[in-house]
Amino acid sequence: MFLAQISDTHLLSLQENDPVAVKRADNLMRCIDTINQLPVAPQAVVHTGDMINFGPENDYGLACEILSQLKAPFFPTLGNRDSRPEFIKSFLLPKTISNENAFCQYRVVLKDFDVVAADTKSLTRNCGTSCPERIAQLQELLKQDCDKPVFVFLHHPPTRIEALKNPLQFDEIENARAFTDLFDRFDNIVRILCGHTHRSDIVQMGRHQASTLPSLATDVRLDQYPNTLVNEPIFQIHELHEDGHVTSMSHFAKARPEAALA
Ligand SMILES: [Fe+2]
Repeated sequence: MFLAQISDTHLLSLQENDPVAVKRADNLMRCIDTINQLPVAPQAVVHTGDMINFGPENDYGLACEILSQLKAPFFPTLGNRDSRPEFIKSFLLPKTISNENAFCQYRVVLKDFDVVAADTKSLTRNCGTSCPERIAQLQELLKQDCDKPVFVFLHHPPTRIEALKNPLQFDEIENARAFTDLFDRFDNIVRILCGHTHRSDIVQMGRHQASTLPSLATDVRLDQYPNTLVNEPIFQIHELHEDGHVTSMSHFAKARPEAALA
């Protein structure tokens, strides 16, 4: 009973043959290869945002091409670097969201747990935000089944991460609290999975635990690693146990047997 989480791939266009772009794409391919080869397949793979650095030279084509190799069901939410309409068009329409300007929020029913995507994107700032509309929509998604275990996944952690230079990555504390207060009303939430911080942390968030993981883009990762591991991409596996608690492990993605990109 587990799922895999990847985050902050920050993919760039490969057109310029930029070594950073090549490395970021290779990191994602290595993760997908490794996840595909796990002895037991995860019930889902979630991506907690900043799929790409959105811009005129950079769209979701490369991400879609690489992610099409993943065997497990894939569910993303968007980060501050993503474009909401382009993201929804590329990944979610028409499966779960019918309007490309809608919030990137949805629920997926899986065998042993559900996953619920939440949207923390602000249109004006890089930090997270909230509004009554998205909180109300999220509440309806969570109310669909209050007994089954649920992993919520979103980009910006709606709580303070003291290890960060700016511990609160939200525009207003009230907007972060809107998420915390909502999640506190649901006993069946087993973990809040976040991205954005580019480092690994696990913190208490109201009555639940929230965790973050290193960015897959190793050149912008914030954790400290020995020299031999500094360029090795990381994803996490979250295992849900029978008693409802969740344990998390970071995995280094295996090297690919040959140069992945021509
Ligand atoms: Fe990021």
